[in-house]
Amino acid sequence: MKGLILSGGAGTRLRPITHTSAKQLVPVANKPILFYGIEDMAEAGITEIGIIVGSTAAEIEAAVGDGSRFGVHVSYLPQDEPLGLAHCVLIARDFLGDDDFVMYLGDNMLEQGLGGFIARWESQHTAALQPALGDAPDGPTGAPAAQILLTPVPDPQRFGVAELDDEGNVVALVEKPEDPPSDLALVGVYLFSKLIHQAVAAIAPSARGELEITDAIQWLIDSGAPVHHDLLDGWWLDTGKKDPLLESNRRVLESLEARVDGEVDADSKVDGRVVIEAGARLVNSEVRGPAIIGAGSVITSSYIGPFTAVAANCEVTDSEIDQSVIMEGARIRAVPRLTDSLMGRDSEVTRGARRSQATRVTLGDHSTVELA
Ligand code: DAU
Repeated sequence: MKGLILSGGAGTRLRPITHTSAKQLVPVANKPILFYGIEDMAEAGITEIGIIVGSTAAEIEAAVGDGSRFGVHVSYLPQDEPLGLAHCVLIARDFLGDDDFVMYLGDNMLEQGLGGFIARWESQHTAALQPALGDAPDGPTGAPAAQILLTPVPDPQRFGVAELDDEGNVVALVEKPEDPPSDLALVGVYLFSKLIHQAVAAIAPSARGELEITDAIQWLIDSGAPVHHDLLDGWWLDTGKKDPLLESNRRVLESLEARVDGEVDADSKVDGRVVIEAGARLVNSEVRGPAIIGAGSVITSSYIGPFTAVAANCEVTDSEIDQSVIMEGARIRAVPRLTDSLMGRDSEVTRGARRSQATRVTLGDHSTVELA
């Protein structure tokens, strides 16, 4: 079985962070979202992974490399324009060959690993059982051509949505419907047999101009090929927006193992589930977990509160932060309390020395500032 991770596309929803960098590389607990997917695949025994890359290809390739640090081999598959999830399968044809594969959306994070999902597929699907289109066995016991992962959500309009019949078989899939047939959203992990290649070649672009994977799966259903589903176990985050990103940061920090490899001076205090990476320094400061402080960061006369991830090489001085993701190289000085915030690389928040009520900002396009 191979892996296909989709890391092209445009990250409009996390702007301005994603004006300049890939949304799949935004860190959760100081690790890029994309790495969690690669690690899940490696843990499930998948060693051949293709990554679809678009305009942020260079950045993604620099971060992931050849995959050896994860124990896998990575091939990069360039996509000129984000023409849809099914288009990604189309251009990955040579890489995938006739193998079964897991497709993973590079901006999704799942609490559950891939092991159980793949084991269920393998128990029902061997090369010998693989049906040809036209004489596929009926019903949920036939070898599946696709297996999808579903979970109830309060806002199904934002997702691909599945409709099940009374026996629990998937009968229809629709992408971001105005009037959803159910509340069962498609989570961004799919399993496919080689039959999907016929499906993606047969469908036409949707009204929004994309080749939709939901249409390709619908084509399989309409051709009589069994499409199975699993229900998600545990939490899942589609991290394309700030609040879900902070939420996934919170969840992952909660499961960190405390470790202090950096320097904590005699006037500082570390409390709870806290990671201080080697080369980080706490000077006259308190860090209350769950929290992580990246290598080379210096925290001086400050308080870092729960659910905060400070990446590498940041400076925090005379400030208080909690519930935030602070990316590499950011500087925070004399800020009484920063909360629920996402700061991009090398960004800066400071309090001016002048005795003035005025606020001075230099903001990138699509930035947001909420004043106290
Ligand atoms: O997160 C789950 C949802 O993901 C599903 O419920 C939807 O059915 C599915 O279409 C998808 O919706 P999104 O609107 O969230 O997809 P997005 O455009 O964010 O793309 C998902 C990932 O795939 C992201 O890492 C970018 C990448 N991508 C996307 C497109 C359209 C590509 O690599 N190439 C593309 O052409």
